[in-house]
Amino acid sequence: MNIKNICCIGAGYVGGPTMAVIAKKCPHIKVTVVDVNKDRIAAWNHEDLSKLPVFEPELDTIVQEARGRNLFFSTDVDKAIDEAEMIFISVNTPTKTYGKGKGMAADLKYIELCARQIARVSKTNKIVVEKSTLPVRTASAIKNILDHTGNGVQFQILSNPEFLAEGTAVSDLLNPDRVLIGGDTTPEGTKAVNDLVEIYGNWVPKAQILTTNVWSSELSKLAANAFLAQRVSSINALSELCEQTGADVNEVAKAIGMDSRIGPKFLKASVGFGGSCFQKDILNLVYIARTYGLDEVSNYWEQVIIMNNHQKQRFSDNIVSTLYNTVSGKKIAFLGWAFKKDTNDTRESAAINIADNLLNEQAAVSVYDPKVVEERIYADLDYLNSRDSEENRKLLKVENDPYETCNKAHAIAVLTEWDEFVTYDWERIYDNMEKPAFIFDGRGVLNRELLNSIGFVYYNIGSGIIE
Ligand code: UDX
Ligand code: UDX
Repeated sequence: MNIKNICCIGAGYVGGPTMAVIAKKCPHIKVTVVDVNKDRIAAWNHEDLSKLPVFEPELDTIVQEARGRNLFFSTDVDKAIDEAEMIFISVNTPTKTYGKGKGMAADLKYIELCARQIARVSKTNKIVVEKSTLPVRTASAIKNILDHTGNGVQFQILSNPEFLAEGTAVSDLLNPDRVLIGGDTTPEGTKAVNDLVEIYGNWVPKAQILTTNVWSSELSKLAANAFLAQRVSSINALSELCEQTGADVNEVAKAIGMDSRIGPKFLKASVGFGGSCFQKDILNLVYIARTYGLDEVSNYWEQVIIMNNHQKQRFSDNIVSTLYNTVSGKKIAFLGWAFKKDTNDTRESAAINIADNLLNEQAAVSVYDPKVVEERIYADLDYLNSRDSEENRKLLKVENDPYETCNKAHAIAVLTEWDEFVTYDWERIYDNMEKPAFIFDGRGVLNRELLNSIGFVYYNIGSGIIE
């Protein structure tokens, strides 16, 4: 089949950028991204490109080029399914908040809804591509639904996990390390795999397009995220030891990273990893291993999450103990709320838990993030249910200006590594703070010598306070 029409269900952080890049690179293919959320689709169609629902460097330029030409955003899911030869499922798969597997397993209800809708609407053969990260063997459940509830048309299920990282989504999509496609080894399965290979082949060298069986592909996505998160937890575990022993975690990371077997990436100590994937995918892996009775395997991976939770807790504990064991009524300025720089995404961001811990201590938290909007910050806090939303709004303030955020603060906590933080007028910030003026750099991005010379007491994750 020569694919001319693609539909993607789910216009989120993955579906939106991925389809925009496919549309840019394949002007001969019509790409329609659909979503049940009307506001999200309206935002994707907004004339003002700064209003797109997902902020990613370069995304606006690509959307501007392809939108209306061969890239469309719509809420008419049935129509897009009907027209497409290939349907990507890119809906969210959050951790279950109820029932069996609560707090661990992936909630597949949206995936199932999509499968049922595809089955109901389809009148011609379709290739269904799992883009969402899914537990191993989900493809067989999707196939089962499609084959038993469909209109007798043929479905091929492919797994094509997304490895893009937020903040660098566009460049990751344009120059991926690899594209992974899993499919059935039957002649029809192989053909479907080749159809998808052909699409990526429009810009990705063939040698970087890896084809496997469906289960390997599904598991590889979970495994890749688990390995990446494990590196962060490993360096974070060492960061605590460094602070006790006088070693500097950045020096340790550099020393071990120069071993070509280890490599330098993903060794930056931090306040803890966040993002929609790492925790969810590891919990998912832990749950699957436990389901098969593999307790050692599941306990091994669970430790990555335990370490990450510990890192967040110890960061806020350290603020409280350094500020003479009380932060009650003290203003603590947060620089950054997003889970990493260059994104407006806050899912599982360490800042949320750290704010919550400090609010429990009755601190007056003030937040500035260059891209995260006020409603998002309050929604993140309210979601924890630690206190009512009125109380959250009373205790935590969101500012549009970093200098205002830091004004009269007892301490600053750097929670996201936004580039602009380095360039601030730190003398001015110091002059307007309470003294001693503390900075807790949870990202290791600020200049220690400069800050110490101005008079700050500067704590850096993984080396502590050096005066
Ligand atoms: C993705 C992946 O799909 C997920 O598996 C991965 O682990 C994280 O990234 P993401 O794009 O980040 O999800 O999620 P989100 O931004 O929440 O977008 C999902 C979209 O799907 C939402 O806009 C939601 O409205 C839409 N959706 C959900 C539907 O259109 N139909 C549904 O039935 C459910
Ligand atoms: C991750 C994977 O990298 C990507 O391949 C997958 O598709 C989705 O999940 P993402 O969550 O967008 O991407 O961002 P990533 O760059 O991996 O960062 C995740 C978290 O780890 C962030 O909070 C980041 O700040 C933190 N991190 C990363 C560190 O603390 N130290 C590091 O050295 C690297």
